[in-house]
Amino acid sequence: MLNKINKKNTGEIEKMFDSISKEYDFLNRIITFGTDAKNKKDIARIVNTKKPSVILDIATGTGDIPINLSKIKNCKIIGIDISKKMIETARKKVESRNLFDKITLEIGNAEKLKFKSNNFDIVTISFGVRNFKHLDKCLKEVCRVLKNSGHLIIYETSLPKNLIIRFFYLIFSSLFIPLVGLLFSKNPSAYLYLQMSSKVFPSGKKFLEVLSKAGFCDFKIKEKFFGSLSIYIGKKR
Ligand SMILES: C[S@@+](CC[C@H](N)C(=O)[O-])C[C@H]1O[C@@H](n2cnc3c(N)ncnc32)[C@H](O)[C@@H]1O
Repeated sequence: MLNKINKKNTGEIEKMFDSISKEYDFLNRIITFGTDAKNKKDIARIVNTKKPSVILDIATGTGDIPINLSKIKNCKIIGIDISKKMIETARKKVESRNLFDKITLEIGNAEKLKFKSNNFDIVTISFGVRNFKHLDKCLKEVCRVLKNSGHLIIYETSLPKNLIIRFFYLIFSSLFIPLVGLLFSKNPSAYLYLQMSSKVFPSGKKFLEVLSKAGFCDFKIKEKFFGSLSIYIGKKR
């Protein structure tokens, strides 16, 4: 069961996120016990240390990462996502905060980025990579659009290394996330899928191997929430 999941294709993923765009922020806070907001601030803090002037946020969803990054001085952020409805929600949030001078939001697919090579100082991807149908292809595209020595920062679910914590985490998340979906979502099957995909997605060192093959090096991992969430930082080789 653990290793069996039919990965949705990009069109199906787009429809799935379209269907949960309105509830996404609220349910994400519940599922991550509110830690998500703090971790996204931590990502902005990490990005700030690199003094970027142009950032691309892929799978930007409802725009939380660009909004957090907008506090960085002298910096422009582009957020892209395949889901039109997630982008619409993001646009409303950016507009209500008057941030359109710093943030541009566009529909775009990580598999074929429409930006020139060596363009961005930083690429961020938060809770996005495990949804990519063709992960290797997307990561190679990220590498292409990053400037030489530019950084990729990924925030993603991961499996706790400690086997006892992992055991309880797997039981808990297998019950809790689908239950939240069932109680509050218009599309409960989306939460079942998101929970299953987090179980089978490579995490920790296995994910670093994937990043290394795509052209990244000098890795750091910051584990959060008992190792069930991780921030991966890598540099373009
Ligand atoms: C779980 S949401 C994450 C949203 C936001 N980054 C966050 O941290 O809350 C995943 C997002 O990835 C987007 N996505 C999935 N595959 C994509 C692709 N190939 N290209 C661009 N966006 C994609 C989905 O549409 C969805 O909005």
